Amino acid sequence: MPRHPRKSDFPVSQVRRYLEPGPIVLVSSKWRGKTNIMTMGWHTVMEFTPSLVGCVIADGNHSFHMIRDSGECVINLPTTALTDAVVGIGNSSGATIDKFREFGLTADEAREVEAPLIRECHASFECRLHDDAWVDRYNFFVFEVVRAHVAASPKHPETLHYTGDGVFMVSGKIINRRSKFRPEML
Ligand SMILES: Cc1cc2nc3c(=O)[nH]c(=O)nc-3n(C[C@H](O)[C@H](O)[C@H](O)COP(=O)(O)O)c2cc1C
Repeated sequence: MPRHPRKSDFPVSQVRRYLEPGPIVLVSSKWRGKTNIMTMGWHTVMEFTPSLVGCVIADGNHSFHMIRDSGECVINLPTTALTDAVVGIGNSSGATIDKFREFGLTADEAREVEAPLIRECHASFECRLHDDAWVDRYNFFVFEVVRAHVAASPKHPETLHYTGDGVFMVSGKIINRRSKFRPEML
């Protein structure tokens, strides 16, 4: 086994396979009395306080307009138990179907926003649109998480991480290096 892996040229359009952060989330929304859900892999934590999360929502998605117009959404964390729903929700449009009904999911009332929580998910983060400056240019929304609901166990849920082409990696082994971290970096 070489000390350094040998690398070869790789198509830049496919670096998602290595850089896409995951975990895959389900983003629920509500607008004019109708609810919807989309699958999302393109999100990133941007700040702790306020709790900011940036997300790319393509403007062809039904969710784009629902979230932009309502200024709200809920980011829900599914586990591998919901893999089929994750795929189905990401390959259908809320313009033509009711995804809660179609995929057997339960919409629970949120505390701070109108968009519903997905009961079957491990965690749900209620979000308000914080900054839409890059929405027209990159479909990039910056949300503030205004309330978070998290299941007490398992501590490390088995989440899905997308590598493109219909293939997911699953979170697994835990490595703890807490003793080497500065408190402010935790
Ligand atoms: C694994 C996976 C990840 C996805 N990630 C994103 C994403 O980050 N941003 C996005 O705009 N669409 C993403 N999609 C596509 C949307 O989920 C898909 O277009 C969905 O049908 C949109 O639903 P809607 O039209 O009801 O809003 C993803 C789909 C899958 C299957």
